[in-house]
Amino acid sequence: MGTPAVVLISAPMSDQNKNDKAGVVPKAGGRGARFGAAMDEAAAALNASVDFDKRLLRDDVRGSQAHARMLAAVGLISADDAKQIVAGLDKVAGEFERGERAMDPALEDVHMNVENRLIELIGDAGRRLHTARSRNDQVATDMRLFALSSASAIVVAIDKARVAICRRAREHAATLLPGYTHLQRAQAITLGHHLLAYAEMLSRDRGRFLDAARRASECPLGSGALAATSLPIDRERTSQDLGFAAPTRNSLDAVSDRDFCAELAFACALLGVHLSRLGEELVLWSTTEFGFVRLGEGHCSGSSLMPQKRNPDIAELIRAKPGRLIGDLVALLTVSKGLALAYNKDLQETQEPFYDAIETTRLVLDVLPRLIAGLEFNPERMKEAASDPALGATDLAEHLVREDVPFRKAHEIVGKLVRHAEHLGVSLRDVPEHDLPQIAPELHAASLQALSPARAVAGRAIVGGPAPAQVTREVQRLTAELRGLGYEV
Ligand code: ARG
Repeated sequence: MGTPAVVLISAPMSDQNKNDKAGVVPKAGGRGARFGAAMDEAAAALNASVDFDKRLLRDDVRGSQAHARMLAAVGLISADDAKQIVAGLDKVAGEFERGERAMDPALEDVHMNVENRLIELIGDAGRRLHTARSRNDQVATDMRLFALSSASAIVVAIDKARVAICRRAREHAATLLPGYTHLQRAQAITLGHHLLAYAEMLSRDRGRFLDAARRASECPLGSGALAATSLPIDRERTSQDLGFAAPTRNSLDAVSDRDFCAELAFACALLGVHLSRLGEELVLWSTTEFGFVRLGEGHCSGSSLMPQKRNPDIAELIRAKPGRLIGDLVALLTVSKGLALAYNKDLQETQEPFYDAIETTRLVLDVLPRLIAGLEFNPERMKEAASDPALGATDLAEHLVREDVPFRKAHEIVGKLVRHAEHLGVSLRDVPEHDLPQIAPELHAASLQALSPARAVAGRAIVGGPAPAQVTREVQRLTAELRGLGYEV
């Protein structure tokens, strides 16, 4: 038996050599005239990034066009060269995007593929594009552009999820259910309040993306390989052209830091962790045991064996994906640590976790608006669970506080009462009146009878509380914010 063939790269090295002979193609990885031989095939496969950095195509082209316009503006290339470069790059992007041309892994990365094709199309003008530039400042720029557009897409997706939550919270401002601590029934709350907890998390996540984007908004172009350039370029101009807030201030830092990727990956991981709690609650609430909710048919799966099943796969995946997002963040940080200044090829390895974090996050966020809109809550079931009189114990203690009993004492009195009820096997509300003077003389039967989840919840109407009136105020606040952003809520 022969050795099994393992194809590592799709284009054989001989193709590259052919191109070399044609004299228009820079050799892979900018090897230029420095090397006699092509890169070893296995090494080339390890080295190549085109399979993943092809995502940067649009940003790479935008960056190069801005760079070319700047080169012409300062007189380093002619206006005509710049015109040819800009038009040529549009053509190159179109060819790759439409699949008319495939990127060649032998050319290592998206940057060399674009430049190589540009030179094929427009010749010498294309050879001037890389003036005063290195792939090191180029890739850092591309990744920042990618980071910025990804952050804004994620912010939009978060807002759409917030719109969906806001609507359901408005609808269920007064729907009662038990609130839990330690997953034990604790106190009655409202579903609107519960849902708005997620809106709060998402609002902070949104802020984190915007915050990270603000710091990412610096343009590395002009940093060169590591030490800038002696050529009289105009960094302000390129930065402005690309929509960055400013050029970076240190060439070594600019080519070698990927903190903006790590920050965004963290924002993705934390967002994912938040949503995983929602996923978990949907899984839990849709069990027969809870019965608080059913996922819409479009958002659950059947079983290939058990015909009755209605499985919450989507909620489970929302719960699971952060495992991957946290992995992306850890990979990114680990790859970045301990690198001597400035650029090191290790940095290429930050790309995949970064893209994965962004893409996974978008995948999860995109499912939310319709998932949330389609949730079939069961207010009857929730109310029944919230009507467990034990949930009124805290309210009873607070009632005693109003009668001037010190809280610690009130806690003890109600504790005794709960114990007694448990001993008798009755609910808190049904402790016989004649037992009260002995166990809790401060309590009247009327106060016990008055225990009701609706009344208890309505009483907790302070800022941050679950009372329907307060939920309505918070819904109004969120609605105003979202409408201000242009959403119909
Ligand atoms: N694909 C490379 C990266 O992601 C581009 C920069 C290559 N620079 C270099 N000096 N080899 O980092």
